[in-house]
Parts: sequence; C-alpha cells; structure tokens
Amino acid sequence: MTARSRKPRLAGGLLALLALAASACKPQTRFPLDTLAPTSDLTKAFYDLFVEVTVLDIIVLIVVVGALFLAVLVFSTRTGSLRPPSVKHSDMYLEMAWTIIPALILLAITVPTVRVIVKTQPYTWPKDTLPVEVIAHQWWWEFHYPTLGVETADEVHIPTGQTIHFSMFSKDVIHSFFMPQVGGKRDVVPGQNNQITLIAKVPGEYYGQCTEFCGDSHANMRFRVFVQTPADFQQWVKHQLEPPVKPTSGPPAAGAKIFANAPCAICHTIRGVSGFSKQYTYGFRGPDLTHFGSRSTMAGSIMDNTPENVARWIHNPDELKPGALMPTLGLGGTEMNELVAYLESLK
Ligand code: CUA
Repeated sequence: MTARSRKPRLAGGLLALLALAASACKPQTRFPLDTLAPTSDLTKAFYDLFVEVTVLDIIVLIVVVGALFLAVLVFSTRTGSLRPPSVKHSDMYLEMAWTIIPALILLAITVPTVRVIVKTQPYTWPKDTLPVEVIAHQWWWEFHYPTLGVETADEVHIPTGQTIHFSMFSKDVIHSFFMPQVGGKRDVVPGQNNQITLIAKVPGEYYGQCTEFCGDSHANMRFRVFVQTPADFQQWVKHQLEPPVKPTSGPPAAGAKIFANAPCAICHTIRGVSGFSKQYTYGFRGPDLTHFGSRSTMAGSIMDNTPENVARWIHNPDELKPGALMPTLGLGGTEMNELVAYLESLK
C-alpha cells in the first residue's frame, strides 16, 4: 500500500470513530446492547462515572507518556556525553511523590464509585414504587407484577418516571439479567434475591440478554424491555388483566381443544384454561401464554412472534434452542395450523 492510498483510509477510519462516538450519545442506537447509551437514572449514573474515570485515566496517561518522552528524549545521557549517568540509589521526595500521587488517583476513583454504589442500591423505595419480580429459567425470563397481578414472559413493560424495583430469583442455575441501556447488569443466583432499582426516562423498546453462561442455550436467553409512558403502561396492564380470548369457531376454536388436550397444558398457563396453583410459581413451568399473541417476540426473544415461527418452534423446539425443555409433540398439518391459530389469537 502506498502512503497516498493510506491517507483517505485513515480519514475514513477517523470519521467512523467519530460517528461511533456521536451515535453513543443517543439513547436508542443501532447497537442494541450499547452500554454507553443511558436511558434511566441508573444507567446515567453508571455512564457519568465511566466518563469521570475515563477523563482521569486520560490525564494520567498524558502525564505518564509525557514524562516517558521527556526522560527518553530530553533528560537521557547521550553516547559520548562527558557527564556520567546518575548512580543515585534513592530520592526521598521522588519516592514520596510516586506513593502519594497514585494514592490520590485511587482515592479520586474510589470516592465517586462508592457514591454511585450507595446511590444506586437503596434499602428503601418510594411509596409509589412498582415491584417487578424477575424469574430466570433455562432459557427464558418470567416477569411478575405482584401488585398488579400481571404475569408475562420474554418481554417486560415498565412506565417512565416511576421507581421500578426489579427483584430477581433463579429457578435453576446462575444467570445474569443485563439490560444495558435501561438497567445495567445483575447476577441472578439460586437461593439469593438480587435487586435493581431504577427510574426509566426514555420510552422505547430495548434489548436484554442473559450474560452469565448458563448452559446450552445461554445465548438464546434474551428479552425485551418496553419502556412506556404511564398512560400506555396502564393500557398494557389493563389488557394483560383481561381474560384470554375464548374462540368459538374456526381454526382457533379447534386449536383451543388441541391445546387443552395436548401436553402443552401441563407446563403452560393460559388463565382459565390451564395453570398451576401459586405454590408452583417458582417450580418447573413454561411461559404464561394468556396473552401470547400480544407479544412481539417468542422463545426467549430469539425470534419474532409470527405464525411461521410458532409452527417451527412447536415442530422442533430443540432445533431452534438447543437443550430446550419443551418436548417435540409430533403435531403437523391441520392440527399444527389450528394450534398456531389459537396461540396467535391470544392477543
Ligand atoms: Cu441464563 Cu445465560
């Protein structure tokens, strides 16, 4: 490569870097798991801390590299120099300086870090806090709203401007609840109750992902966070509390019969059709399907909720999500179409 052809490439690279930096400032970017695009008080606190520490690091880097260049280029002993190199073994002031300065730098990082930890992990919450229970399963996320009576899976909805208290439980192994733009990351450990508290600011659809290796389909354990205005959120809650659609004719009605008589009903709740008593809430189960048709994604948010994908999923779950506990039911043809029509009718 000639020097001439290198220049435009270098300029292009710099422009791309600038564009990347600029896009990182906007809340919803084309990088779905962007950790530098805060949309809540919590992620804003993380982001500010990151910027603060990075600026400090850059200053340290400039001073250290500057001192290095001065030592090498200005204050070094030259070949043929008449002056012999220094043989001094110690310098009290220098040693004090390189002990005290790093201690001050560590202090400058520790103080804001501890401040953010204390601020973002409160022990009490305001009266109007919305509690949301997050239950991690291999390999999907279950969401309960204990004060609202709503249960859902794969997609969690929260309103803006209200304190949200996520309380996390694991049904099996260690998972990690990661929603970079809205709520950061917290491990979900069996037998332990970890928590995240935040106030979301920007309505939108955000990506989430399990970030602790938890078995075959760890990478297929995703979810979505829908941040809504309080009015939209109330509307969503109202809809979720409605009883499921009871089709009376056509393929959905035939599908409802298939669902009730097939093993589906053993693991999946459809309110008023199938389900468990509360004591099994944290036991073995599949996602609540009462309003399955109203969700935009399915199977741990790995694909869009379309009739084709639902059919592919029921046909062979293990093929789409290796290790999935849902068995292959051997349904096909008309029966499959009817069952899919019923599930998609559960708006
Ligand atoms: Cu759950 Cu990785």
